[in-house]
Amino acid sequence: MILQKRSFDDYYKPAEDTFFLADHIQKEKGHAALDIGTGSGFLANILSDNFEFVVATDINFEALKKAHRVTKNCVCCSSADALRYGFDLVVCNLPYLPSEKVVDTAVDGLEEGLGIPTNIIKSASSMVRKNGKLVYLTSSLANYLELIRRTELLGFSAKITAKKKLFFEELVIVECVKL
Ligand SMILES: C[S@@+](CC[C@H](N)C(=O)[O-])C[C@H]1O[C@@H](n2cnc3c(N)ncnc32)[C@H](O)[C@@H]1O
Repeated sequence: MILQKRSFDDYYKPAEDTFFLADHIQKEKGHAALDIGTGSGFLANILSDNFEFVVATDINFEALKKAHRVTKNCVCCSSADALRYGFDLVVCNLPYLPSEKVVDTAVDGLEEGLGIPTNIIKSASSMVRKNGKLVYLTSSLANYLELIRRTELLGFSAKITAKKKLFFEELVIVECVKL
């Protein structure tokens, strides 16, 4: 995750983590996909190449104003809380940095980088259809093994499918299939 200098009415600009996850999901195909925490809409835009119906959510309304230029189904809500649908694919570049409190919603993940990601994945879990996929990006800075364990408790089989070393951390992509 690249720590960017932002004001609160700003949004997360596509960075190394975004591009890493984009490479990983660009060959996925299906009918319906959801990008949680869409930021600029970069990942939602990639998904729209191979999915007919793409929805993007974010709690940051400024981000959604930007995302709306590239994807029309933008919903301002936490995770997937405002939705009821069975998606073939749900993706999320998680806010995973360990933090005591959430100061920057784009990156702060609370204790061990688990608090916010766990809530996001809980909400997302019921939006993935049976045999559908949830793909998320986390990091060696977070307790990602515990996050994987929690994801499995929500009815997924989960495995690490890619890692990428950066200067201070290793990015980790986790692919989960809904059982
Ligand atoms: C690391 S940024 C990723 C942005 C974009 N997906 C990308 O890859 O460039 C995390 C995003 O999640 C959003 N976010 C944080 N908590 C959220 C929540 N509970 N529900 C929805 N979005 C959230 C932030 O506003 C931010 O846009």
